Amino acid sequence: MTQEELFKKLIAHSKEYGYIFLSSEIYDGLGAVYDYGQYGVELKNNIKRYWWDSMVKLHENIVGIDSAIFMHPRIWEASGHVGAFNDPLIDNKDSKKRYRADVLVEDHIAKIEEKIEKEVAKGRKKFGDAFDEAQFRATNPNVLCQVEKAETIRKHLAETLTDNNLDGLKQLILDCEIVCPISGTRNWTDVRQFNLMFSTQMGSVSTDASQIYLRPETAQGIFVNFLNVQKTGRMKVPFGITQIGKAFRNEIVARQFIFRMREFEQMEMQFFVRPGEEMKWYEYWKDARMRWHKSLGLGDDKYRFRNHDKLAHYANAAADIEFNFPFGFKEVEGIHSRTDFDLSNHQKFSGKRLQYFDPETSESYVPYVVETSIGVDRMVLLILSAAYAEEKVQKEGEGERVVLRIPSILAPVKLAVLPLVKKDGLPEKAHIIMNNLKFDFNCQYDEKDSIGKRYRRQDAIGTPFCITIDHQTLHDDMVTIRYRDNMRQERVAISSLPEIINEKVSMRSWLQQLGN
Ligand code: GAP
Repeated sequence: MTQEELFKKLIAHSKEYGYIFLSSEIYDGLGAVYDYGQYGVELKNNIKRYWWDSMVKLHENIVGIDSAIFMHPRIWEASGHVGAFNDPLIDNKDSKKRYRADVLVEDHIAKIEEKIEKEVAKGRKKFGDAFDEAQFRATNPNVLCQVEKAETIRKHLAETLTDNNLDGLKQLILDCEIVCPISGTRNWTDVRQFNLMFSTQMGSVSTDASQIYLRPETAQGIFVNFLNVQKTGRMKVPFGITQIGKAFRNEIVARQFIFRMREFEQMEMQFFVRPGEEMKWYEYWKDARMRWHKSLGLGDDKYRFRNHDKLAHYANAAADIEFNFPFGFKEVEGIHSRTDFDLSNHQKFSGKRLQYFDPETSESYVPYVVETSIGVDRMVLLILSAAYAEEKVQKEGEGERVVLRIPSILAPVKLAVLPLVKKDGLPEKAHIIMNNLKFDFNCQYDEKDSIGKRYRRQDAIGTPFCITIDHQTLHDDMVTIRYRDNMRQERVAISSLPEIINEKVSMRSWLQQLGN
């Protein structure tokens, strides 16, 4: 199965099994806006909880807030979003389709990288066990030529973006001979800047109403509450403030399912540090965040860092954590050293002093900030892409299964309770078991269809444990527990179920391995 086929299947599966629906579907949907179904919302909540606890519970010096989406419009002037939160757009005159000019070039680079990987795969096939990948990459003329090509284009792209050179960006598109995927032509308009913020009016009378924005990041709600939290929480630098909440961006190119949405959710943390110490903390948070991702056990080789070629208007260093999605390595989280840009500007624009008095140095200063910012929806897509598998089944009768190998801590339903038949007192016994377990775990009861079909249904939604109650259970209080990943079954006492399940799904054991 190609990665493209896998991605299509994943989207279909997410809908069929109640994870993700197109928003306003009965009205044919709304571009790049999605709703989460009964399992999607549980997965999302579990991701948020794992993130929140790893930040707030594990760090004495990190606290959370929940600030409003509507904020004073001057905030977005101070933050630079009114002036600089733009994407360069370009239209194809024949197809009338609009694209992000930088994304067109990035996609072109991705195609070159695909060629490199194909070349390496050919080498691997040709040389078999004797294949030395590092040497091949360092010496093969075709690979070297493509690597140089990709690097040159990437460098030009970064330069044109940094210099805001829109003509240069168009020229790069022409030089790379990039065609519109719809019309196949190179008939492009000039590149223009497009502000990504949604605006609306606040106030009932249109003449009095003031223009406000839907926040494009949650971070500003943290900055403007910096002193409130520092004073009321008696926080000492270094300390962090987190929040989880919705953000809105009028993305020009919204595609790849929930990867790029117009309404999405962020989990952000601003870590306030002494000026001059930001690089130390930047490295600390890069490491800590990568460990959090890898703790989910989806495969260390699926992640990589990518340093930003073009820094955002507020940053002096920035890196993305990228994940190998079915459409290639893409950003899931950003770690940014934001300097004192935001606090200083809010101080200037609001006229309010936003300084911290450091009792250790007896100095007042505007703290520097290191930010970690991760998209909840991208995490959902990451988990689903890594979890989706189609497998031949030898046990439980011949056939195939689709299984979501979601890390058990994040699985929407932790266990299914399944009476073997719908009679002879088995449903009643199953309910007794479920009524005991439901206080600790998200359980699902299912008595319809054969046991094999019920296992398949639970596999498809990613339930790590199935508990089957049979006639023998009524005599010995033992049940069959069946594990999703290897389909192994064993007979265990009902009384041991909480311990067995808890070992795999308790937040405690997952947080412990992060070991802060
Ligand atoms: N406060 C910094 C900030 O917002 P960003 O790199 O623009 O930085 C941070 O966004 C994260 O938010 C990204 O790594 C991504 O996971 C998520 N994100 C950004 N735009 C998104 C979109 N249109 N749809 C879904 N997630 C998005």
